[in-house]
Amino acid sequence: NRQSHESRGALIVLEGLDRSGKTSQSNKLLSFLEGLGFSVESWRFPDRNTCVGGMISSYLANKSQLDDHTIHLLFSANRWEKRSLMESKLKSGTTLIVDRYSYSGVAFSSAKGLDIEWCKAPEIGLLAPDLVLYLDIPPEKAAERGGYGGERYEQLEFQQKVSQQYHVLRDPTWQIVDARLPMEDVEKQLRELVLECVTACQKGKPLSELWL
Ligand code: TMP
Repeated sequence: NRQSHESRGALIVLEGLDRSGKTSQSNKLLSFLEGLGFSVESWRFPDRNTCVGGMISSYLANKSQLDDHTIHLLFSANRWEKRSLMESKLKSGTTLIVDRYSYSGVAFSSAKGLDIEWCKAPEIGLLAPDLVLYLDIPPEKAAERGGYGGERYEQLEFQQKVSQQYHVLRDPTWQIVDARLPMEDVEKQLRELVLECVTACQKGKPLSELWL
């Protein structure tokens, strides 16, 4: 039945601590898939180009202060405002490589001490990723890479807490990649995982919603 087995794009999410290499790797995956002739876009959250994104950006730059619950809900709203576009892109066959998603939302806010179930609640009903790629790096190693930009959260002690929360969130469907390996090795592993996922979605793997 063609109707129920329509080919669609894949929702691929990269997660990990700050300086784990997500942004470089998502750029590489974009060129890789483009080179193979796939329709693909690179997205990131927070998306700082919306009104909500502007509020988030100013908070991250320490230019505004917000209560922990408030900023949590803004990060979530920032995903909700992109949900329908996300769905239409996927259904029209475009694969999305997304740098951070709901898991960042939950890991960072719960690292501040907010209840994890409370943190997960506003994410219910967002599209579930077809693949979560976790770039695994000890917080100390990430800090050694330097280049923490001085935004809020870019501090070793806090990143250690975030790392613990990511461990709590992890489930067996996540693909954990050792981000300490040379960039080319990480890239090679990611390429294989992504191709497998894109193929499954082309064959009609159904879209689903959080939380799984
Ligand atoms: P970025 O450096 O990837 O642009 O992300 C900005 C910071 O925002 C980063 O430290 C992670 C944090 N963050 C949250 O706290 N909640 C979220 O929902 C997202 C997407 C990011």
